Amino acid sequence: MKYFFTLSFMSLLLCCVQSVSASEASVYVDRVYDEIPPAPKSQSMAEALQKSAGCQSCHTTTDSMTMHESPGVVLGCTDCHGGDANIFTMEGDIKNKNLMGQAHVLPSYPEDWHYPHSANPEASYTLLNREAKEFVRFVNPSDLRVAKEACGACHLETVQAAKRSIMATSAMFLGAATYANNVLPFKKYILGEAYTPDGEPSAIKGPPLKDADANWDSHGVLPVLYPFPTWETTPPGDIFRVFERGGRNISNLFPETGLPNALGLIQRIEEPGRPDFRQSNRGPGTGGRISVPVLNVHKTRLNDPLMWFLGTNDNPGDYRTSGCGACHVVYANDRDPRHSGPYAASLVIHGKIPDQ
Ligand code: HEC
Ligand code: HEC
Ligand code: HEC
Ligand code: HEC
Repeated sequence: MKYFFTLSFMSLLLCCVQSVSASEASVYVDRVYDEIPPAPKSQSMAEALQKSAGCQSCHTTTDSMTMHESPGVVLGCTDCHGGDANIFTMEGDIKNKNLMGQAHVLPSYPEDWHYPHSANPEASYTLLNREAKEFVRFVNPSDLRVAKEACGACHLETVQAAKRSIMATSAMFLGAATYANNVLPFKKYILGEAYTPDGEPSAIKGPPLKDADANWDSHGVLPVLYPFPTWETTPPGDIFRVFERGGRNISNLFPETGLPNALGLIQRIEEPGRPDFRQSNRGPGTGGRISVPVLNVHKTRLNDPLMWFLGTNDNPGDYRTSGCGACHVVYANDRDPRHSGPYAASLVIHGKIPDQ
């Protein structure tokens, strides 16, 4: 009986371990990526068509080959997306996953992206930061990590402005949250979200100004924004409780804050007036002596992402890509011209929207 109990307990444990690895661990595939050159400002039509030929053998025709209405924009698919345009489908077998895999740039985290399916994953949080920049550019050339290469030849100023925009940095959110919670004492905001192409946090600088102070005074121009610090290393702002030294019975275990000692034994030998339970006795940044608001701001940022990340993809209004495409690509054609503009126009019959 005892033996049986141990065995079933063991299998229970194993189950737990397995389910944790299935839901939390991402499988990383080490790949060597070809460099994708920046999209050129100008080229001949023949060059552009060659860069689309293989892709179009499967992706056939679209409303616009270049994502632009203007025929003045001459680009091939691989100028923006990368990939190999010399791979052609055989006998129209567009679902041939082997050929598709040769033509496409493949993800480093295929499971997280549900490869080979192209639907964006739900709640992808920091996936774009972990993923290789080559694949980021393949799924979304307009992602801010890679937009300089894909769009910069023709839209450099817009790309730079988009990265500095409050829609990308969320400086007001980080500023208000840190000032209001006593994490930082500055009313002049110094934090903002930005990443390098490899997904590392990065400071973001505005263009050099002649008189930065005057620009701040009259227009609120911030010269530079720094990345939000990690919560583990940020000392708490709520100084009153967490700096209490505690009494003389400092155990080496992290205290169970909020779980009183049932027998009252510790209280009996304690100095009067000292708290029983401390948030940590190892100094700021350990145990409960972290900045809880900083942790929450990190989570909010990922649960309600701005332009550097994909929409959460699980609620109406949250189905969108990152970067320029978040605003410039239609995601919800709900057949209502008021939301979906020209994409829904063909459904307007005699000036009226048919019932849905
Ligand atoms: C052999 C056929 C084939 C070729 C060649 C091909 N594709 Fe695809 N591609 C597909 C199919 C099929 C899908 C949709 C996969 C799914 O969702 O199941 C797809 C999806 C995509 C996606 C979305 C991927 C994602 O993960 O979100 C992009 C972008 C794309 N293709 C671009 C290209 C480009 C650029 C080329 C040329 C370099 C190309 N494709 C060549 C068949 C092909
Ligand atoms: C100007 C750059 C540009 C060019 C040229 C271009 N694309 Fe795209 N493509 C984009 C952007 C930006 C998106 C939106 C990405 C997103 O929604 O995440 C996109 C989206 C796509 C998607 C859907 C991706 C997905 O995740 O569902 C496919 C498929 C695709 N492009 C294929 C092509 C093919 C095939 C060509 C050539 C005929 C081409 N593209 C040319 C920029 C471009
Ligand atoms: C080869 C040059 C070139 C590249 C590369 C390029 N564009 Fe453009 N883009 C243009 C030109 C020229 C226009 C203006 C013509 C027009 O209105 O269609 C334009 C216009 C636009 C517009 C405004 C369209 C409107 O309705 O006014 C958007 C948005 C845009 N591009 C996004 C992008 C994005 C995102 C990328 C990169 C993924 C990109 N472009 C890459 C040349 C380019
Ligand atoms: C937060 C939403 C948002 C993002 C992100 C965004 N745009 Fe725009 N963009 C707009 C709006 C809104 C307009 C104005 C549209 C209008 O006036 O019709 C615009 C206009 C444009 C125009 C036309 C400008 C002109 O002078 O006519 C271009 C080109 C353009 N955007 C390119 C880009 C590029 C490239 C990116 C990414 C680097 C980008 N946008 C990111 C919302 C956005």
